[in-house]
Amino acid sequence: MKDVDLNKVSADDWDEMTFPRPEVQEFDRVVERAISRRGFLGGVVAFGSGAAVMGTAMLKGSAALAQQDTRFPFTPIPTATDGTVHVPEGYSWQRVVSWGDPLFSDAVGDFNSETGGSVEMSDRVFGENTDGMWLFTVDNHQIIAVNHEYTNRATNLPEAENGTPRNADDVLKLQNLQGVSVFEVTDGPNGWEVVIDSPFNRRITHNTPMRISGPAAGHDLMQTEADPTGTESLGTMNNCGSDRTPWGTYLTCEENWNGYFGSTEEPQDQKPVTLTEEQQRYGIGVDGWGYDYHLWDARFDVHQNPNEPHRVGYVVEIDPADPESTPIKRTALGRFKHENAANTIAPDGRVVVYMGDDERGEFMYKWVSRDVYVPGGDTSTLLEEGQLYVAKFHDDGTGDWLALTPEVTGMSEAEIAIFTRIAASQVGATTMDRPEWIAVNPVAAEGYCALTNNRNRGVMNNAGGDWQAVGGPNPRPENNYGQIVRWYPEGQDHGSDAFAWDLYVMCGNPEVHDDAYAGSENIHAGNLFNSPDGMMFDSAGMLWIQTDGDDGNAGDFAGNGNNQMLVGDPATGQIERFLTGPHGCEVTGLCWSADRRTMFVGLQHPGAPFPDGEGALPRSSIIAVRRDDNALVG
Ligand code: FEO
Ligand code: CA
Ligand code: CA
Ligand code: CA
Repeated sequence: MKDVDLNKVSADDWDEMTFPRPEVQEFDRVVERAISRRGFLGGVVAFGSGAAVMGTAMLKGSAALAQQDTRFPFTPIPTATDGTVHVPEGYSWQRVVSWGDPLFSDAVGDFNSETGGSVEMSDRVFGENTDGMWLFTVDNHQIIAVNHEYTNRATNLPEAENGTPRNADDVLKLQNLQGVSVFEVTDGPNGWEVVIDSPFNRRITHNTPMRISGPAAGHDLMQTEADPTGTESLGTMNNCGSDRTPWGTYLTCEENWNGYFGSTEEPQDQKPVTLTEEQQRYGIGVDGWGYDYHLWDARFDVHQNPNEPHRVGYVVEIDPADPESTPIKRTALGRFKHENAANTIAPDGRVVVYMGDDERGEFMYKWVSRDVYVPGGDTSTLLEEGQLYVAKFHDDGTGDWLALTPEVTGMSEAEIAIFTRIAASQVGATTMDRPEWIAVNPVAAEGYCALTNNRNRGVMNNAGGDWQAVGGPNPRPENNYGQIVRWYPEGQDHGSDAFAWDLYVMCGNPEVHDDAYAGSENIHAGNLFNSPDGMMFDSAGMLWIQTDGDDGNAGDFAGNGNNQMLVGDPATGQIERFLTGPHGCEVTGLCWSADRRTMFVGLQHPGAPFPDGEGALPRSSIIAVRRDDNALVG
């Protein structure tokens, strides 16, 4: 690990380097399963050496495609490989805010390309690596809450060798540039811009006080020397996707938080064996993912503070209307690598929150509140009491939500909240191809989850020892393209325990493959993409899909170009490309202005010197896109 440049290693790859898992390579098992599935499908599938299976859903989808009636008010755009943004003819884009831009007037002019900005102002500026976001309207003010997922250390600390923190100030700077930004925007003569010094502006960092609520609050496993009550923690971290509740709060989701922790225990070579089974399941490593927080901030040293990691990995609720409010960690919704939290209201008024755990072979979850949402009523404890479920998919196109209760898991409610992955393994949940964003259709009772890719499918167990079987919604071994699974809750009730499912799309490349890796019928040379990740529905029920994939534009990914944003019609399966990002970026985060005439789109970790041009540091940014005729865009 010490010889590896962690700046170049993804969080997912780092987990497996830290805890290598043997390749199982049980080809007999793979083939046996595939053959039985082929029988189920009546011989419709393409199955050859190393090939996979297409579900009946594809066939339904392609039948529907024949009668499609376009709901795409734009001319789809081609792929791009350059360093800027492209949108369809009749649309324009502008930059709104980039890493280092001031949210407060004392930070104006602080950013510069030599230092990336000062440590003193690092919690007064827009953070790095923009991700999930939503727009809130409060007393006619438009407020964006947005996540800053992680830092490219070498970019944030350009003066430190390899971006490795040299002191506590470097660590503090990294901690301040992550978390969440809340800020007001306004549409003035120069287009959209941040309202500097708006009373709503706020930075939430890795050091902001949080309150811990729900079943884990106060438990022994949550208590630390600094907080013997186990109810008050510091910071929200690796904030990935997000959601907006009907009552106007922001839900931010803690994803690859394990990488911030390390251990100073001596001797070095014995450190791995001191990690507990639970720490290993959650990928807590000895050296961390290169942030080195644990060397300068004892809170992140699991040798000194073994319970501190139990206080991260949750969905956190933030009130964007009140900059003085304390964010609340909602432990009832479980602890894992939370991608996003897609909430909806069941017909009986209960709150349903769908959530994915983004790691190879981890699970998809649902939480249902005990109490009902009453508009205008007290919502302060709505996300505290309820039932957590994990998804079990069956090959016949049905599925069940398995309740994670003390009876079936042998764990207490607090333990289920803290070691959710272990509880889910106990009930035999379906290992998934890395669940990224989930989106709930506002005009039809259905949910969608982006299963971004999973090279370990059919190759090895997940971190908990669960076999990553080929089949169901994860039908391709060594799945490098990804797919989107869709489910229909029984009785059109998201609170129900049962569902039917199909695959909305399987990404692939029909120019390169003629088996299941060609993708589903709704993939063609004109809309190639891989690794679907961000997903949101617009008010018309169209599905916006953002990608975080291989943008090398070669081999399996030839014709994919840079990462992009597409739009899918759930009814017909038609998918068209709307936007391409600068080379090296991931497109992630989408929300709309109050009048829905502007969409805000996040561009994370551009590789090209975007948006400032040649010679400048690349800066993750939010852009605004609108139609030249100012018509609605979602
Ligand atoms: Fe932060 Fe799984 O994406
Ligand atoms: Ca993501
Ligand atoms: Ca991703
Ligand atoms: Ca990312």
